[in-house]
Amino acid sequence: MRNHPQALRRITAIGTVALAALSLQVGGAAAQDPGPTPGPTPGPSVVGGVPAAQGEFPWMVRLSMGCGGALYTHQIVLTAAHCVSGSGANTSITATAGVVDLNSSQAIKVKSTRVLQAPGYNGSGKDWALIKLARPINLPTLKTADNPSYNNGTFTVAGWGATSEGGGQQRYLQKADVPFVDDATCQGAYGNLIPGEEICAGLLDTGGVDTCQGDSGGPMFRKDDSGNWIQVGITSWGQGCARPGYPGVYTEVSTFASDIASAAASLGG
Ligand code: ARG
Repeated sequence: MRNHPQALRRITAIGTVALAALSLQVGGAAAQDPGPTPGPTPGPSVVGGVPAAQGEFPWMVRLSMGCGGALYTHQIVLTAAHCVSGSGANTSITATAGVVDLNSSQAIKVKSTRVLQAPGYNGSGKDWALIKLARPINLPTLKTADNPSYNNGTFTVAGWGATSEGGGQQRYLQKADVPFVDDATCQGAYGNLIPGEEICAGLLDTGGVDTCQGDSGGPMFRKDDSGNWIQVGITSWGQGCARPGYPGVYTEVSTFASDIASAAASLGG
């Protein structure tokens, strides 16, 4: 994992005391705001969740740098900008799909060919990126929200990240439900929230359910009016994991829907 000046910038804005408490690193890196940092500490998967059933979320992808993602098209994974180091040719990432058990012999493993990090990403907001795969994966894709109408209600999150703050990465995909937290409330917890670009979710009063280190880049989703899953968020950051008063912060997918669509088109779909 390389350093992220941008992540440090945001942490500076929050203050050094808060730095120690922030836990946003990609699995395997030390805890920071959206951006992995060097360090041996294993990333904290979903806290307070339960194992997902095989095939329940068929578009879920595990990325080899220790992040999650979702199939945006059969050959493009949508993940977090802080999970990648920039844009350009990149054959170093392996996407694992089609299984809840990462060790399954049924796992579909495909290498990356290119990465496209959100244009203008500087460590705050715009936490999305696309990974082009070497070949299409024949699994369902996850539709993304292109307007704010689904930015409310109860969301589902999933990932192979830590199941407790500071805990290890998981072999089996975990899932949990988290309620929407409105921007004003979330800004009460995080003065540095970017309300137009980020959407919060979690159990504000009690904590106990949240994404955690290694879940970054994975989708936050709900059912649309037709009963199909739709992605409204991308796991981005939070202070610790599942702490009372500190919801999880997710990239607001609807805000970036057209940017993501153009970026995907530029990758050849
Ligand atoms: N940034 C983390 C990662 O890279 C995700 C942290 C999510 N934290 C939270 N409290 N919801 O895996």
